[in-house]
Amino acid sequence: MTGAHRRTNESRAVICFTLNGRAVEAEPRAGMSLLDLLREGFGLTSVKDGCAPEGSCGACTVLLDGRPVVSCAQPVERVDERSVVTLEGLSPEIREGWARAFVTAGGAQCGFCTPGVVMKAEGLLARSPDPDRAQVVRALTGNLCRCTGYAKIVDAVRLAAAERRGNDMPAPGVEGGVGTSAPRYRGREIVLGEQLFVNDMRTPGMLWGAVRLSDHPRARVLRIDVSAARALPGVVTACTARDVPGERRQGLIFADWRQMVAEGEITAYVGDVLAVIAAETRQQAREAAAAIAVDYEVLAPVTDPLEALLPEAPRVHADRDNLLSVSRVRRGDVAAALDSAAHVVRETFNTQRIEHAFLEPEAALAVPESAGMHVYSQGQGAWEDRRQIAGYLRLPPDRVRVTQVAAGGAFGGKEDLSLQGHAALLALQTGRPVLLALSRAESIRFHPKRHPMTLEYEVGADPDGHLLAVRARITGDGGAYASLSDKVLERTAGHACGPYRVPNVDVEARAVYTNNPPSGAMRGFGVPQANFAIESILDVLSERVGVDGWEIRWRNALESGDTFGTGQILGPGVGLRKTLLAVRDVYRSARYAGIACAVKNVGLGNGITEYGRALLRPEPDGRLTLFHSWTEMGQGVHTIFRQIVCQELGIPPERVTVTVDTMRELDTGETTASRATMLGGRAVLDAARKLKAALDGRPPETLAGQEFYGEFVVDWTTPNDSPNPVTHLAFGWGSEVVILDDAGRLARVVVAQDVGRIMNPILLAGQIEGGVHMGLGYALSEELRVDHGVPVSLALKDQGLMRAPAMPPVDVIFVEETQPEGPYGAKGVGEAAAVPTAAAAAAALHAYDGIRRTRLPMRDSPAALGLLPGRRTEAG
Ligand code: FES
Ligand code: FES
Repeated sequence: MTGAHRRTNESRAVICFTLNGRAVEAEPRAGMSLLDLLREGFGLTSVKDGCAPEGSCGACTVLLDGRPVVSCAQPVERVDERSVVTLEGLSPEIREGWARAFVTAGGAQCGFCTPGVVMKAEGLLARSPDPDRAQVVRALTGNLCRCTGYAKIVDAVRLAAAERRGNDMPAPGVEGGVGTSAPRYRGREIVLGEQLFVNDMRTPGMLWGAVRLSDHPRARVLRIDVSAARALPGVVTACTARDVPGERRQGLIFADWRQMVAEGEITAYVGDVLAVIAAETRQQAREAAAAIAVDYEVLAPVTDPLEALLPEAPRVHADRDNLLSVSRVRRGDVAAALDSAAHVVRETFNTQRIEHAFLEPEAALAVPESAGMHVYSQGQGAWEDRRQIAGYLRLPPDRVRVTQVAAGGAFGGKEDLSLQGHAALLALQTGRPVLLALSRAESIRFHPKRHPMTLEYEVGADPDGHLLAVRARITGDGGAYASLSDKVLERTAGHACGPYRVPNVDVEARAVYTNNPPSGAMRGFGVPQANFAIESILDVLSERVGVDGWEIRWRNALESGDTFGTGQILGPGVGLRKTLLAVRDVYRSARYAGIACAVKNVGLGNGITEYGRALLRPEPDGRLTLFHSWTEMGQGVHTIFRQIVCQELGIPPERVTVTVDTMRELDTGETTASRATMLGGRAVLDAARKLKAALDGRPPETLAGQEFYGEFVVDWTTPNDSPNPVTHLAFGWGSEVVILDDAGRLARVVVAQDVGRIMNPILLAGQIEGGVHMGLGYALSEELRVDHGVPVSLALKDQGLMRAPAMPPVDVIFVEETQPEGPYGAKGVGEAAAVPTAAAAAAALHAYDGIRRTRLPMRDSPAALGLLPGRRTEAG
C-alpha cells in the first residue's frame, strides 16, 4: 500500500504494506524479521524457516517489490510502504502452473524447499521469460535443496516457463499404476506449500516451547535455576529433569540418551537438554530459555575415539565403558591368504563427520487429550516415538497417540527421539498444546551425524587381481550417545569387502563413545565409509595388475551364488555386472574418469525380525484409506504404495488417501535401510489382493468400513557371525562413474542402478540424483568440524552443501534384476547412489592429477575448488 500513513502506539512502530495484493498493517516487535511477521502475524505457511536468521537456504523467499529476497534476513521495517508477495499471493493460474510443472518434472521431493524455489523462479521469469538451464541454475544459487540434486527443479522451472509462453505441458502420469511416473502423492499441495509440516501446525490455546542446551560438551551441572525465566512475561512453565515423571534415558537400542540432564550429572555433549520452556509466544519461550541460569564445573572433554579407549580416559557415561560396540566378520584364513598373495595393498582412510542438513529442522506438537497425549511427529518411526514418549511420561503406550506428519527431509537424522518427548512433557505440565521447534543452529548442535571413521585396510590379491583376503580395523566415533552406532558399525563391517568376492575376511569395527555430537544413522548407514576404502584399494590394485578400474571390478564382481562379505550366499537379484556393463563405455571413453561400484543392504537384517504391515479400508464414497507405518520424507513412499493399490484394484490415484498413525497397530520400526518399498510394498500388495478378492468385482463402497490387513514378515536373517549366515533380505547394486573436465572440475556423473523393478521412473531418478548430490558433497566439500567437542560453526552455509551451480549433470541408467521377495520384483534404492560417489570422485581425481587421496572431504582437489562460488557458472 504505497503512500500509507505511519503511526506509532506507545511502544511499537506500525508499518503498512501490501501483502499479496491487500493493504495491511502490523505492529512488529523490535528486531522482528519479515519471515516471523509473515508466519506468526499473518499465518502464511508457504514461507518456511529453514535457517533463520542466517539467510542461506532460500526456503523463506518472497517477492519484495517484485524481486526475490530471503524474508528471514529482512528487518520488517524494511517492507514499510512496499509490496510483499508470497506463494499464497500468486494468481490461481500461476500457482496451478507451478504445481503442474513441479509434479510433472518430479521437482519436489520432501517439498520443504519448494515454495521458496518457486518464488525465486517467479522472480526469474518476470525478468527472463525463456531462461536456459544455466540461467535457471544461476538464479537458484541461493536456494538449497537437500533432496533432488537440483536437475528436476531446473526441469520444472523451464516447463513452467514454457507453458506460460503458450507451449503445452507434457501430461503427468495419470494412470497411477506400477511402472508409470504417477504423480507424487499430494504433489500439488507440497509444491504450493499447503502441505503442513509440524512447525506450520496451529491449534487453539497452543503454547510455544524452547529448549536450553548445555554450554559445554563435558561439565558437571551444579545448578539449573529457572526462577528468572519463570518470572518473564508469557512464560507458563519451565521444566527440568526433576519434572520428568518417567524414564529420562531413552534410545532406539540402548536406553542411554538422557532426554534431560539433571543437576549433579555430567553433560555428554553440547546438545544435551537442561531445561525446556513453554510460553505464550515463541519469542517469549526463547528469551526465557536464554534466561535460565546454569552453573557448571567445566571438565575436559574426551573427543578422540582412540584416546577414549585408553584406560585412564574418563568415561562419557559413568555406568558404561567408552567402547560402545565391536562388530566382527571372520571367514577363512586371512593371514595365510595375505602371505600367499601376489599383491598386498595396505592403506588407512579417514572419513569426516557430516550434517544431514534436512531442510526442515526438528519440530514436535503435543496436544493433551482426555485419553492421554497426542503427538504430531516428523520422526522416522511413529511407533518407536510412541514407545519412548510413553516411557518418558510414564504413560501406558495406548494413552499416547502419534500422528506421523510428512518430514521435510530426514536421511536418517530423525530416527532418534528429538523433541517429541519434550513437547509432550510441556503439554502434560500445562494442560495445553505445545509446539516446540529448533532453530537451525540448535538443530545442528542437537541431532546425530554421520560417523567419522578411521579405516585401516590390508588387502591381498592374486597376480590377476582376484581378491584373496581383506583385513580391516575400523573405528567409528559414536559421540555422546549410542543412537544406532553399534548397528552402523555392524553394517560397515558387513560391507567392508564391498560388492566383491573375497574368500578370506577378518574385519573388526568398533564404535566408541566420546563427548562429540552423537553419530547415528545417515543415508548409507556406515557403508559409504567402507566403500571409500575398499574401492580406493581396488584402484591401487588395478594399477599394480595393469588393468583399468572397470576390469578389476569386473573380475571380482559378485554374482548370484557367490558369497557376500558377511558370508551370505547370494540368491537371485544380483544385478551388479549388468550395472558395470552399462557404464563401461562411458568410463573408458572419458579422459578423466573414476569408477566405483556399490552394494547396500535392503532391510535391517542381521537376525532382526522385520515386518511390513498395512490396512486398506473402503469408504462409503468409494474412496480407499490406506494405513501404513512408514514416514514420508520425500522419498515417495506414499506414492509408491498408492500405485500398488491402483495397480491391484484398478482405481484412479485421487481415490486413495494415505495415513500413518499409531491409532492402528502397524508397528514396523524405523523408516530406514531402504526397506519401505520392499517390506511395506509387500504388505500393501497383500492387503490390496485380499480386498480385491473380497470385492469380487463389486465397487469398494460395498465393503465400506471393513479393514483388510496385509503383512510381510522377514524372520530368516541371521547375525554376521552365524554359521551359514543370511544377513540380509536383499541388496541394492550399482556402478557409478564420475567424469572431470580438463580443469579437473566435475563434468558429469553416470549411475547405473539395479532397482529390481522400476516402480516410478521419475521418483526413482530423483532418489538417485539426490543420492549423487549428497555423495559428491561428502566427497568434496561437506564437513561438520568439531573442536574440543564444540562444532566450529552452527551455520548451514558452513556445512559445505553443494548448491545448484556446483552440480554436474547426472545420467541415470536403470537395471532391472528382479528381486523375488520385493513387490513386483522391486528393491529399495534410497541409499545406494550415495554410497560409491566419493570413491568414484577420488578415482577421477587420481586420473586427473595422479594424487591418491585417502581422506574425506577432498577439499584441496581441483574438483572441490571448482565448487567455489564464481568458479563454476553453469551446470554441465
Ligand atoms: Fe531464510 Fe533460510 S530461512 S534463508
Ligand atoms: Fe528440496 Fe526436500 S525437496 S529440500
